[in-house]
Amino acid sequence: MSLFEIIYTGSNAALGLAQQTVADAIKEKGKDHKVAFPGTAYSLPVIYAATGIKIATLGELEGALGVVKSLIVEEEDMGKALNAGLATAVSAEIIEGVRYALSEDPYKNETGIGFVPDSIIRSLGVPLVTGDIPGIAVIIGESSDKDSLGTIVKDYQSKGLLTFLVGNVIDQVVEAEVKVGLEFRVIPLGNQITSVIHVVSVAVRAALIFGALKPGDLSGLLNYTKERVPAFINTFGPLNEVVVSCGAGAIALGFPVIADTDVPEVPGALLSQKDHNETVRTSLEARNIKIKIKELPIPVSYASAFEGERIRKDTLYAEFGSKRSKAWEIVRMKEASEIQDHKIEIIGPDIDSMDEPVYLPLAIIVDVAGKNMEEDFEPVLERRLHYFINYIEGVMHIGQRNIVWIRIGKEAFNKGLRLNHIGEVLYAMMHDDFGSVVDKCQVTIITDKEKVEELEKEIALPKYRLRDERIASLTDESVDTFYSCAMCQSFAPAHVCVVTPERLGLCGAVSWLDAKATKELNPTGACQPIAKEGVEDEHKGIWSKVNETVDTLSRGAVDRVSLYSILEDPMTSCGCFECICGIVPEANGVVIVNREYDGITPVGMTFGELASMTGGGVQTPGFMGHGRHFISSKKFLKAEGGIERIVWMPSELKKDIADRLNLTAKELYGIDNFTDMICDETIATDIEGVVSFLTDKGHPALDKDPLM
Ligand code: SF4
Ligand code: NI
Ligand code: NI
Repeated sequence: MSLFEIIYTGSNAALGLAQQTVADAIKEKGKDHKVAFPGTAYSLPVIYAATGIKIATLGELEGALGVVKSLIVEEEDMGKALNAGLATAVSAEIIEGVRYALSEDPYKNETGIGFVPDSIIRSLGVPLVTGDIPGIAVIIGESSDKDSLGTIVKDYQSKGLLTFLVGNVIDQVVEAEVKVGLEFRVIPLGNQITSVIHVVSVAVRAALIFGALKPGDLSGLLNYTKERVPAFINTFGPLNEVVVSCGAGAIALGFPVIADTDVPEVPGALLSQKDHNETVRTSLEARNIKIKIKELPIPVSYASAFEGERIRKDTLYAEFGSKRSKAWEIVRMKEASEIQDHKIEIIGPDIDSMDEPVYLPLAIIVDVAGKNMEEDFEPVLERRLHYFINYIEGVMHIGQRNIVWIRIGKEAFNKGLRLNHIGEVLYAMMHDDFGSVVDKCQVTIITDKEKVEELEKEIALPKYRLRDERIASLTDESVDTFYSCAMCQSFAPAHVCVVTPERLGLCGAVSWLDAKATKELNPTGACQPIAKEGVEDEHKGIWSKVNETVDTLSRGAVDRVSLYSILEDPMTSCGCFECICGIVPEANGVVIVNREYDGITPVGMTFGELASMTGGGVQTPGFMGHGRHFISSKKFLKAEGGIERIVWMPSELKKDIADRLNLTAKELYGIDNFTDMICDETIATDIEGVVSFLTDKGHPALDKDPLM
């Protein structure tokens, strides 16, 4: 058979299976039976993005079969063959949709996770734009050799890539002792080939969430995935027609396919690489993914993929902080003459000097000096310690300042990891990540109990206090410069964040100080200063210079922004916001929902559904994505009356920000314990229940001017 014949045979086979699956399901459940994937606002995302149609029932799914049919036009033409590949993808989505329609959790008995909810995709936004996740590998099939397969996956992992697994490779990778799970960036989808649709669906929803793609714009969709989703496919073992036609679908999306068997090669799109030692190199080259390699003098692996790794009690070798001991960390700016570059000093016992489990107090002091270093950058550098230490395989770091909690696993200890290696890592990473402000760096690690306690009082606590005072004194009025952040433009081309002292970036990761430091570190990079000039309306937060900047950076897509309003020209969102705020006219206020909350809200929508109302750099009055910390800001919704408008939040979010929010409410309105007046899901999620709670509590929003 020719390549074309193979693809069409595969597409028709997939279509036949989809038809059969839908017909059987309708016979069993009827046409009105509900069809939905869990945790998404985009229905069956591939069909929705490609056609603009939201499928909700088995009957409508039957209608979608026509779309598949129309995509299969059997001619010896590459474009037509790629369309047939897309048809196979849609067939796969139909089949998987039926599985979810017939069972609450069709993946219950599999290692694979099946459908990937919107919240996970949103959480991947920042690491993908920063290049922390440099690419996405999709591995399909069954390898002739599980060890070389394991090596390949570990290699992707060590390079920070996100890997999805489909087919028997899942069991093989587990057998090869690769650490698997979202926290390790290795995600098993499912054993059947149709599970591959769940990664296609991730790419497609990235276009809807971040790219403001209009559903139904198929060519726009294919262009987005090709240009902005750095994915590729590795197939292992013999390929059947269905897999080949799936591959054609991947190629249509712009994802090259690298097979470990003989295939008719199509340059840049379909490649054969039979040598498993070369799979990674060939794949990264094919998708043009460049990796910054970090060679560190430590006996374990070092990669951002290990960030989420947990060390549990049964694998614990050493622990610092938490209940048993004190642990703190600090980055200090020093004069160059006070520092000896690359000096790493351990004061007190190391972890091999006593029996396991080792419990020790800990202080980590990182001293840096540099011509361009500023005291304001200390907390920015210090917050990176968490990541630098977490990236060590077998080491876990939680918290910051003097609530740090570090664990070292047995495996890492047995491989030879000691405290000086942590020092080496911090030294190297400080130079690597902050090269333009750090000329010299020295690290002191202390485990001597008396010293840890004494120096906490002498060095750490006063410094933390000074910084808190500095941050509290930073207001939008007290500075003459704001910053733009355009980091997310690689996914959301029209989006710009304006970062001010009282309004951090919506991802929660970029404060005004961060933006200032980023500008210093990379003068032509994502964060640029905006002179606070041309005030038009201070109450709503409108400056002509801000408007001009946003206009330029969004290439004309947005030309006016009110920094303090949700109704009039609100700031746009990319998609990776920590929280979404939406108005509830009935309660004369707003609800705020964080990404982690998966229940329903009083506006009748989940986080995902609310989030889908905005994003992609589009202004949507009444909806606004923002960071957690913005909620307690005096500038939050200032134009509409401020935080008094908040009527509902999930209890977890409420608890998290209560102290700061209460303080702001006290300062602004003289209200005590304002958080207690805000409704949450444990009280009510229906609008009547919310309003009656607010009435009982005398919530101030009810007495304010109508919101709209
Ligand atoms: Fe993206 Fe805004 Fe965060 Fe910058 S501040 S990374 S643009 S969300
Ligand atoms: Ni780790
Ligand atoms: Ni973003």
